[in-house]
Amino acid sequence: MTTVLRVAPDRPDPFVIATAAACLRQGGLVAFPTETVYGLGVAALDAAAVRRLFAAKGRPADDPLIVHVADATALAPLVAARPPIVDALAARFWPGPLTLVLRRSALVPDEVTAGLDTVAIRVPAHPVAQALLVAAGIAVAAPSANLFSRPSPTVAAHVLEDLDGRIDMVLDGGATQVGVESTVLDLSGDVPEVLRPGAVTLEMLRALLPEVRARGLKPSGPHRSPGLLDKHYSPRAPLTLYEGAVERVIDRIQQDARVAEAAGRRVGLLIPDDDPAITAARLYAALRDFDTAGVDEILARLPTTTDGLSQAIADRLRRAAAGRVVDCG
Ligand code: TXA
Ligand code: MG
Repeated sequence: MTTVLRVAPDRPDPFVIATAAACLRQGGLVAFPTETVYGLGVAALDAAAVRRLFAAKGRPADDPLIVHVADATALAPLVAARPPIVDALAARFWPGPLTLVLRRSALVPDEVTAGLDTVAIRVPAHPVAQALLVAAGIAVAAPSANLFSRPSPTVAAHVLEDLDGRIDMVLDGGATQVGVESTVLDLSGDVPEVLRPGAVTLEMLRALLPEVRARGLKPSGPHRSPGLLDKHYSPRAPLTLYEGAVERVIDRIQQDARVAEAAGRRVGLLIPDDDPAITAARLYAALRDFDTAGVDEILARLPTTTDGLSQAIADRLRRAAAGRVVDCG
């Protein structure tokens, strides 16, 4: 049985938060809203509980989790090294959608880091996440609260769609704001690298970290960040991504849609809004809606905007497309 508790997103009821915090401390699995997407929380230092979380999500054990803490002071016991830049980044971007990958301490179980010598940590900004972390008083590992390879949940209903009966509790705090997952910044190597683009953009990071670079789409080594594998963030229906000049893309999508429909296939069209904040907030819900509607294929236009958030959106669309990309010139 999964208990659903509604909370006001801006001023969560302390009793509800205390109930969820107690569940976490006892090794339970609690989904909660963050400003990016819903996370599925578990006591990060409880290896047995973390294994239950992997089983609930159907997540492969070689995909490490992000540890969520209430503030930057909670970092100390979890990391083996704290490069000086961490304080400046924390002051500027925490709480918020930035995850830092740092060398880990021996306290963090292998289950959380997938055996890597680094740990990913973030301080979420959502008032419900903040209240929950403060009340629990422990580090909380939380992947997105979806079944493995499905789009991340941006409302509680998405969590239940995937995980009802498999987890203990869902805190329903309404829709998340950002809609795409946090920026993952790796500070464990020689050069700081963005492993996953998000709402904290390269440009924003460059102000503090001039040498920061983006990592290419294809992972080079073995599971440096397995979330970067293709076929992540995927709806059930195959998605084809069309890129290029708007008119040519729209013509080609209409043409391909007519061909598919003539062959009796149900087609979903994903034509993103010009405002990247709106597109990001709606993207995963749109992908799930196509699954609910039972479409056979999805034809999606790649936004032509190139700002940082648009890059995060493009990243997720490319992964959902898993190589099915049509370049319309
Ligand atoms: O916005 C978010 O980050 C959401 C909310 C719930 O906080 N969480 C989230 O978690 O997206 P998840 O598990 O779906 O994605 C975690 C990403 C994966 O790409 C994983 O490979 C990467 O972070 N990651 C975790 N630990 C890592 C590490 N030690 N080194 C490199 N990448 C790591
Ligand atoms: Mg995920």
